Amino acid sequence: MCGIVGFTGRQEAAQILLEGLKKLEYRGYDSAGLAVLGKNGISMIKTTGKIANLCEKTQDGKLLPGFAGIGHTRWATHGAPTDINAHPHMSNDGKFAVVHNGIIENYAVLRDELVERGFEFKSETDTEVVVHLLSLYYNGDLKEAVMKATARLEGSYGLGVVCADYPEHIVATRQFSPLILGVGVGENYFASDVTALISHTKNVIYLEDGEVADITPDEICVYGPTGKPVEKEITRVQWDMEAAEKGGYDHFMLKEIIEQPRAIKSTVEPRIKDGKVVLEELNLSDDEIRSIDKIVITACGSAYYAGCAAKYTLEKLTRVPVTTELASEFRYSDPIIDDKTLLIVISQSGETADTISALEEAKTRGAKILAIVNVVGSRISKLADNVIYTWAGPEIAVATTKGYTTQVAVMYLFSVYMARRRGRISEDEEKRLTGEIMQIPQQIQRAIDLNPQIPSLAKEYHHNKSLFFIGRNVDYAVCLEGSLKLKEISYLHSEAYAAGELKHGTIALIEEDQPVIALSCYEPLFDKMMSNIKEVKARGAKVLGVTTEGQNRIVREADDVIFVPKTDTLFGVPSEVVPLQLFAYYVAKENGCNIDKPRNLAKSVTVE
Ligand code: G6P
Repeated sequence: MCGIVGFTGRQEAAQILLEGLKKLEYRGYDSAGLAVLGKNGISMIKTTGKIANLCEKTQDGKLLPGFAGIGHTRWATHGAPTDINAHPHMSNDGKFAVVHNGIIENYAVLRDELVERGFEFKSETDTEVVVHLLSLYYNGDLKEAVMKATARLEGSYGLGVVCADYPEHIVATRQFSPLILGVGVGENYFASDVTALISHTKNVIYLEDGEVADITPDEICVYGPTGKPVEKEITRVQWDMEAAEKGGYDHFMLKEIIEQPRAIKSTVEPRIKDGKVVLEELNLSDDEIRSIDKIVITACGSAYYAGCAAKYTLEKLTRVPVTTELASEFRYSDPIIDDKTLLIVISQSGETADTISALEEAKTRGAKILAIVNVVGSRISKLADNVIYTWAGPEIAVATTKGYTTQVAVMYLFSVYMARRRGRISEDEEKRLTGEIMQIPQQIQRAIDLNPQIPSLAKEYHHNKSLFFIGRNVDYAVCLEGSLKLKEISYLHSEAYAAGELKHGTIALIEEDQPVIALSCYEPLFDKMMSNIKEVKARGAKVLGVTTEGQNRIVREADDVIFVPKTDTLFGVPSEVVPLQLFAYYVAKENGCNIDKPRNLAKSVTVE
């Protein structure tokens, strides 16, 4: 999705902006551009394609001299990805340039009005209305023009503005889109994402909806929606550059797969004290937890699959009925929920548009909201009554890995926490279960160490056009994520099926050499899975079995086997999914795919 950066200081802005845009590439984009304030006003260069094209077109920024400017990566929504539709957008008199992240919902009405008033539109974007509104309302006071223009906007925006009359200033404002200010020494920044800032400063200010920041090299003045100055707190970002860079791995995705033991450790360990789950961040009283009679988990993509996987544990431990709903469906489903419903939203970015709408829908119906989020200060974290952060660190690869497993781990913690408060488990049982959860980092490491053959398995399976994943119970939920990973990054067709459903249709597709990845880690149903494996084998399938160490019966049936460590059946998902992530990674590598930034996908989907 779109990313924005802004810089003002005493160095050439263009190079810094280009560097910032490179850090935002992972979000997915199709064009990019820069506008820099120089001696002769604003100059602007934009282009379709990669930041590398923009570097070339700007001669690494040299064609845009000046010490303040704004930059943008665009992921097309209104209008095709073309040079003209790329941001920034400039006013007709060249006085203003604007970058925008989000969608202006009432742009059509505004466009008509502005055309009527004589403004000339160059692009097909919703954003261009903003720059003309600035011209319309500008009377020499930049902040006032920004406030008047944004008062006319409906929808979501993170906006960065430069004005030729204000040589050292960059202005930023937001509504329902992320925007963070970076506080430097003699230079200041804004960005839609902290990863664009941390190589320069770890001191940040989280801008709230409706606030406007007037930024110069030595000062950041923030104003509230009524125009009054607001005191803002400077927060120190805990992530470091190393965490946001590849650290010697070929791809961010591999780095993020490998660092899962550490990510889960930082998510889980601080929340287990003396054998008890401690969730100090929750505002839910024990009475409220006892009053819940229904849990709905809603999310998108892998976050949804994390919910599907964790549902089994949550339901088993709490005995409260749990349903999982795709956020994009839930919001339009007229859901039956009330103040006894707990709605759990799961989101790595905390910015996914459908998940936000689902949350808002549930809120209006009185449900209690718990959000499981990775990005601190994100929109979902602000909208939810309760937030448990996953503390996975920055996830750069578009296809999530540590985001997913840390979400599952938080769900495990919450399941034990809730079960204890509802009297479903004793103190001793809580101690035993938390002991099991503490084992997850080692179990993931073991799952990695046990399977050095995955790169060669990938060589064997990568040429297949289509693969099936089958499993039962929680293994089926893991199939959903394993299959999605493969699709996302290797572009192979794959489908996940509940193994018991095979005979109701899918088995018709099984023919000689059709690869079937059969997950049989959930011990109570191991024998049933063995029957399903035999069924597909009998029709010529080539089976890659995934099972727990010691289950050697599968070796006789399957063509290849991936072993994962034996775990408590309640907590096996993280160590089971990791070899599937690795499998998807190496298959994509064999196929020469753009692993960290797969085609057509975005890390954070901030539009419906
Ligand atoms: C996009 C990403 C997925 C992610 C989904 C939900 O589709 O490519 O990896 O699972 O959004 O994102 P969220 O940030 O809400 O977890």
